Amino acid sequence: MAGVHRPSMPDDDPLALDRETMRRMGYLVVDRLVERIATLRDERVLTTASRADLAARIDEPPPGEPRAFEELIDRLERDVLPFVGHFDHPRWFGYVPGSGTWPSALGDLIASAANIDAGAWREASGPSQLELTVLEWFRGWFGYPEGAGGVLTSGGSAANLSAIACAREILAGPMTERLVLYVSDQSHSSIARAARQLGFRQDQVRVIAADEADRLRPADLATAMDTDLGNGRQPLLVAAVAGSTNTAAIDPLVEIAEVAHARGAWLHVDAAYGGFAVLAERGARALAGIAQADSITVDPHKWLQMPFEAGCLMVREGRHLERAFAIVPDYLRDRAGAADTVNFADRGLQLTRASRAIKIWLGLETFGVDAYRAVVDRSLDLAELAERLIRADPRLELATPASLGIVTFRRRFADDPGAEDDAARVDRLNAQLVAELAAGGEALLTSTVLHGRYAIRMCVLNHGSGADDVRFALEHVASMPIQDATGHVVEGEATAARAMGMDPRWLRGNDLDAAHLRDLPLFAATPLEDAERFLASGREQRFRAGDLMVEQWVFSRDFHLILDGRVSIQSGQRELVTLGAGEVFGEIAALDWGRDFTYGRTATVIATEPGRLIAFPQAALGELMRAVPGVEQRIRTLAAHRLANR
Ligand SMILES: Cc1ncc(COP(=O)(O)O)c(C=O)c1O
Repeated sequence: MAGVHRPSMPDDDPLALDRETMRRMGYLVVDRLVERIATLRDERVLTTASRADLAARIDEPPPGEPRAFEELIDRLERDVLPFVGHFDHPRWFGYVPGSGTWPSALGDLIASAANIDAGAWREASGPSQLELTVLEWFRGWFGYPEGAGGVLTSGGSAANLSAIACAREILAGPMTERLVLYVSDQSHSSIARAARQLGFRQDQVRVIAADEADRLRPADLATAMDTDLGNGRQPLLVAAVAGSTNTAAIDPLVEIAEVAHARGAWLHVDAAYGGFAVLAERGARALAGIAQADSITVDPHKWLQMPFEAGCLMVREGRHLERAFAIVPDYLRDRAGAADTVNFADRGLQLTRASRAIKIWLGLETFGVDAYRAVVDRSLDLAELAERLIRADPRLELATPASLGIVTFRRRFADDPGAEDDAARVDRLNAQLVAELAAGGEALLTSTVLHGRYAIRMCVLNHGSGADDVRFALEHVASMPIQDATGHVVEGEATAARAMGMDPRWLRGNDLDAAHLRDLPLFAATPLEDAERFLASGREQRFRAGDLMVEQWVFSRDFHLILDGRVSIQSGQRELVTLGAGEVFGEIAALDWGRDFTYGRTATVIATEPGRLIAFPQAALGELMRAVPGVEQRIRTLAAHRLANR
C-alpha cells in the first residue's frame, strides 16, 4: 500500500472502538446467535406481547451515558428478541416462511459492517459485479435471453412497484387516464398498493375474477382488454402471478403472454413466492412460459432461503430499467463510469442501497446450487405429503391440492343440526382452531378465504422442515379439542344461497321499510338504526322490460335490491340466472379487492319484467358491512357463489 497515507483514528472520535473491544463484541453476538439458531426447535414458533407489556420493558428516554454492550445484548435477548414469530422455525407453515442460512446472514453483516453503498460502479465496482453475476445466474434459471437485466430490491413489493413504473415509462411516458392495469383477484396486494402509489385510479385497475382453480382466464382477460381498447383506453400492463399467495396457483403464462402482447401491453409475472421453484425440474415445468414475461418479480428471501430483505426485479430488455429510473443530478456526475459499467441506483428506486448480492452469492457459493435445488424439491415433496395425509384423514377436508409448496384445507366438524348453517359453523371453528394453534406456540399455520370459505393454509418452504413437522402440524389440527360454546352466529354459504332464492310475498308492490329489510337473510341481525340509515341512502328506481341496468365490464359500484319485477343476469350472450323481488345484484363490484380497486361489472343485467329496485351507493353498503357483523361475510359468500357459477 505504498503511497497511501493511512490516517489513524482521531483520539476524540466518540464512536471509535479498539480492535480488542470490537472482537469481544462480535464474538459475544456470534456465540449468542449460534446458540439461538441451534436451539430454535425448542422455542415457541410465535410469541406476541401486549403493547403495554413491551413498553414497560423497553421504553425509556435516550441514554446520555454509555452502557455496557453485554448488558444491552442481554436486554435484547430478554425484552425484544423473544417477542417475534420465528419465520425460520421448522414448524412455521404460516404466510411465507423465511429461513435464512448462517453464511448469508454473515453476508448481511459484511455488507453492513463494510457499509457498502452498492448504488454506483465507481464506489462499489466489486459488489456491483457480484450483483451482475448473481443476476446472470437468475437470468439463466428463468430462461431469459441475453440483454435481460435486473436489480436486487428490498422485496417483492418494491419489485412489483418498480415493474409497473418501468412499464409505464417505456410504453406510455407520463400518467394519463387512458392507461389500464389488469390483475387477477388472486394477485398479491402489493400490486394494488403499487397502483395506488403510482396514481392509478379506480377505473384504471381491472380486477378479473380467477377461475375455480384460481387462475386468470385468458378469454376474460382478452375481453376486458378489447372492451377497453374499444373505449379508447390503453391496456398498459397485465400482472400475472406464478405462485399466488393464497394457493400457489400459476396463471396460464403462455396464453396470457399472447393475449397481452397482441394488445400492446406489458406482461409482468409476479413470481415473488413461486419463482425459485425453477431450480427443481417439476417447478420449472410448472413455470413454463415465464420467460415470455416482460418483467419478473422473484424473492430470494422466500424460497431461496436468504435472510430478509432480498427481492429482485428482472426485465427482459434490461436497458428499459435505466431508461425508466436513471436520473443524474450535478452532485452525482463524478460517478459516471465506462459504458460497460452499471450503476444499480439507475435501475430502481433506491439511491443509497445495501449490497444484497453479497449474502446471495455467499449462500449459493457456500452450499452450491444443488443444495438449494434439493431444498426446493423437498418443499414440493412435503406439500404433496401434506396433501396425501389430508386426503387420507377423515377428520380433514382438502380445499386445494399441493401446488408449489402450498396446500389448503379445513378440519371437519360433526354435523350439528342447530340454527346456524353448517358451512359458517365449520369456518368459524376452523378460525378458532388456527388462533388456538398459534397461541399454543407449537406450530404455526395461517388462513385465507377461498371462494367464500375459510381455509387453513400450509406453506412448506423452510430448509429445516421435515416430514415429522408436517405430520405434527396436521395431527395437531385434526385432533385439537375445540369448544363450540360461544353462541355467536356467523352465517355462511347455505344462507346466502337461500337469500338468492328468496321471493318474499310482502315485498311485491310494497315500499320497503327498515323492519322488512331485516327480514332478508343478507341483512339479518342488522340493528334497526343501521337498517334505517342504510335504506335512507338508497334511491328507488323504476324499470321497464328490456332496460339495460348494468353492463358487463363497466366500472360502476352501486348495489341493487329488487322490490318487484324480474331481471336476467347475463355473461356475454349466456343467461346465468334470473332474479326477482327480494334478491340483490351488484354485490361483486361493491366489494373491495384492495385500496378501493374492484372488479368491473362481471355480468350484464337486463330487465325481463317491469318493476322497481333500490340502488345503494357502494359507500353505504361498505359502511353497513363494517358496522354490522355478519353482513360482509354473507355478501362475500354470495359474491363467491356467483363468481363460481359464471
Ligand atoms: C406473490 C407475491 N407477491 C409479492 C409479495 C410481496 O413480497 P414482499 O413481502 O417481499 O414485499 C408476496 C409476499 O408474500 C407474494 O406472495
